[in-house]
Amino acid sequence: MEKIVSLCKRRGFVFPSSEIYGGLANAYDYGPLGVELKNNIKKIWWKYFVQNREDMVGLDGGIILSPKIWEVSGHVKNFKDPLVECKTCHHRFRPDKLPKGSKCPDCGGEFTPAKMFSGMFKTIIGPIEETGLTAYLRPETAQAIFANFKNVLDSGTNKIPFGIGQIGKAFRNEITTGNFIFRTYEFEQMEIEYFIAPEADWNKIFENWLEYIYGYADLIGLPRGQFFNHEIPDEERAFYSKRTIDIEYQFPFGQDELWAIAYRTNYDLSRHQEGSGKSLEYFDDEKKAKFIPHVIEPTFGVDRTILAVLSQAYTEEDLTPAQTSPSPLLRKEGNKKGKAEGSKVETRLVLKLKPALAPYKIAVFPLLKNKPELVKKAREVFTALKKDYNCVWDERGNIGKRYRSQDEIGTPYCLTVDFDSLEKGDVTVRDRDTMKQERIKIDELKEYFMEKLKM
Ligand code: GAP
Repeated sequence: MEKIVSLCKRRGFVFPSSEIYGGLANAYDYGPLGVELKNNIKKIWWKYFVQNREDMVGLDGGIILSPKIWEVSGHVKNFKDPLVECKTCHHRFRPDKLPKGSKCPDCGGEFTPAKMFSGMFKTIIGPIEETGLTAYLRPETAQAIFANFKNVLDSGTNKIPFGIGQIGKAFRNEITTGNFIFRTYEFEQMEIEYFIAPEADWNKIFENWLEYIYGYADLIGLPRGQFFNHEIPDEERAFYSKRTIDIEYQFPFGQDELWAIAYRTNYDLSRHQEGSGKSLEYFDDEKKAKFIPHVIEPTFGVDRTILAVLSQAYTEEDLTPAQTSPSPLLRKEGNKKGKAEGSKVETRLVLKLKPALAPYKIAVFPLLKNKPELVKKAREVFTALKKDYNCVWDERGNIGKRYRSQDEIGTPYCLTVDFDSLEKGDVTVRDRDTMKQERIKIDELKEYFMEKLKM
């Protein structure tokens, strides 16, 4: 974990929040590379779960919703944890996480009796704090889907079974945080509510979704062997859920929940029908019957997915002296000594991200930055490729260092314009994983990368 956290900061994936003011615990910001990775994870999710399926549509609900929604959903009453407070240092702890009869682990002080603390962040709507409306930052994206079920149904052509997907921020005043971006106050979810008929074979639909979820794991390069389906036993499940699986993943710090899938019966829609007084029933044309739909809910944490992807991709490789050499094809001009950079065994840090996830797809280098004719040609290639792919320009240091720098951030291809490029109209393309190089005609680069970078 330490290595991942350090790489994330050093290369601009994830920064500790508010660092210039001493930081804010358990809060992080995504840097220039992190935002690209995050957007790619969300983009692939949206395409696979929403756009590729005929039975899915999307939604983008608000973060601040009517407080009624959280009363009716049961969050105001139940989204709480019992906490004890140290009478001396006032640190708070979950009693179920402490050994029985223990004293404060931070200062040895006595504890108060347990009190309930809400996991929802409150805010006030209106200019006057005392009389304003108390609202909440949503602790899950799901409720906006239930609240809009009727709107989506009435404005589209969907027939049950169908689902609504949504990506967005959620906020929880977590008591136990930690493990970097695994558990934070502010995070992002990708959720689906899949509406089915009450008499549908829910277990079969549940199993189909579970398998479909693993298709997403394949797309983003998470190996199935790293997963564990944790079937939640009856006594630990929410009372309205007939089946819940926590989809756990082998993180560097241990196995823990990455995603989840639950069959929530028709609990949510029934509650909102009752709470709002509006019918949330569905009319089945063929059967001429009305019912409140049941739901299967696959749910995903974006930040946990990023952590899983980064820890899976993080690779340290020992290179042989031959591999350490920057480039057999480029050596004659770039490195006049023509020898490997040091004869010691070098370790290469490489992020073996799926190309679709990589922040940059192609890095473009002029072999030498002080040769205007090379820079000009390389700029032309860069500008042309940048229209189709997120490319990065690098002219610092030598080619070997540029390769290492791109390996660390997972750039799948490095492209170098050298003196031969000026005469023959071709460039060297180097593959991140195999480190093999080949000469490709500039005219054929577009097709070459189209083939190499297709999902
Ligand atoms: N609508 C159901 C729901 O919210 P959940 O298991 O509480 O279910 C879903 O949350 C997912 O959101 C989790 O599987 C996890 O990936 C992510 N998640 C939950 N709390 C989180 C936190 N504090 N920080 C980061 N991700 C979190």
